[in-house]
Amino acid sequence: MGQAERSTPAVLIAQMTDIHVGFAPEEKPEELNLIRFRATYKRLMEGPNRPDLLVLSGDITDHGDAESFAKAAALLTDCPCPVIPLVGNHDSREGLLGAFPQVVPADGGFLHYVVEAPLGLRIICLDTLEDGRHGGAFCEARAAWLAERLAEAPDQPTLIFMHHPPVVAGIDWMDPAPDEPWILRLREVLTGQNQIQAIHCGHLHRQITTRFAGIPLGVTPSVAPLVAMDLSPIDQETPDDRELISTEPPTYAIHRWDGTRLVSHYERVGDWQILARYTAGLQAMIKGMFAER
Ligand SMILES: [Fe+2]
Ligand SMILES: [Fe+2]
Repeated sequence: MGQAERSTPAVLIAQMTDIHVGFAPEEKPEELNLIRFRATYKRLMEGPNRPDLLVLSGDITDHGDAESFAKAAALLTDCPCPVIPLVGNHDSREGLLGAFPQVVPADGGFLHYVVEAPLGLRIICLDTLEDGRHGGAFCEARAAWLAERLAEAPDQPTLIFMHHPPVVAGIDWMDPAPDEPWILRLREVLTGQNQIQAIHCGHLHRQITTRFAGIPLGVTPSVAPLVAMDLSPIDQETPDDRELISTEPPTYAIHRWDGTRLVSHYERVGDWQILARYTAGLQAMIKGMFAER
């Protein structure tokens, strides 16, 4: 493979999700969720993979209040790329609009919209919030909107972001029922839409990969503390002291689109020990790997 092909340009779409600013604002000197948010953002922007777009896929705040949204937006004021925020069940549309004036509500007040990304990629952001409900929602009006957007560009590679994963993951206390009307409605709209490269979500606070309506679907782990890894059924009548939330490190995703393929990467943010660097001593190894191409 030639040099030109190795250096194919690509667009990097970062995803940070479930930041939950305002969960414990009284924590000193700063609440844990803001510390985790700052560390994740710093790694993203100062590390080797500066993104072209930054998606915040919901639960940006814990209570949807203006103060928490303002704190989240303040941390992003020097963001060198466009920020694409979605609402989660912990947010409020009003709060999001106050902090991110680039979002324009659609008919019905929903915060769903299309972003044209470089290299021909179309990004569709969905609104799955129903006030007062923990799980997702996708009403007839939102289904009609999405069907119209998909019909506009049936052959253009499309990436969908939404807060709630419309699947049963096996983490019992977080899961929806598999046949909730909003899930069936969404599946109906997406079925047969072969231009959709992937659906990426948040909400679960754990990484999963699956398919929905035949489309690859991933959940990016949270910036806030993670939901513990326990796939055993839960009995809502019997507290069994199981792990629910843990301080596993915050994670961000980078979805890399090169014009033909979308590949998703995940990095846990922490003060990791680097065991090897590209020094002159390892140059022969790197050259050997290129020689095989
Ligand atoms: Fe969340
Ligand atoms: Fe959520």
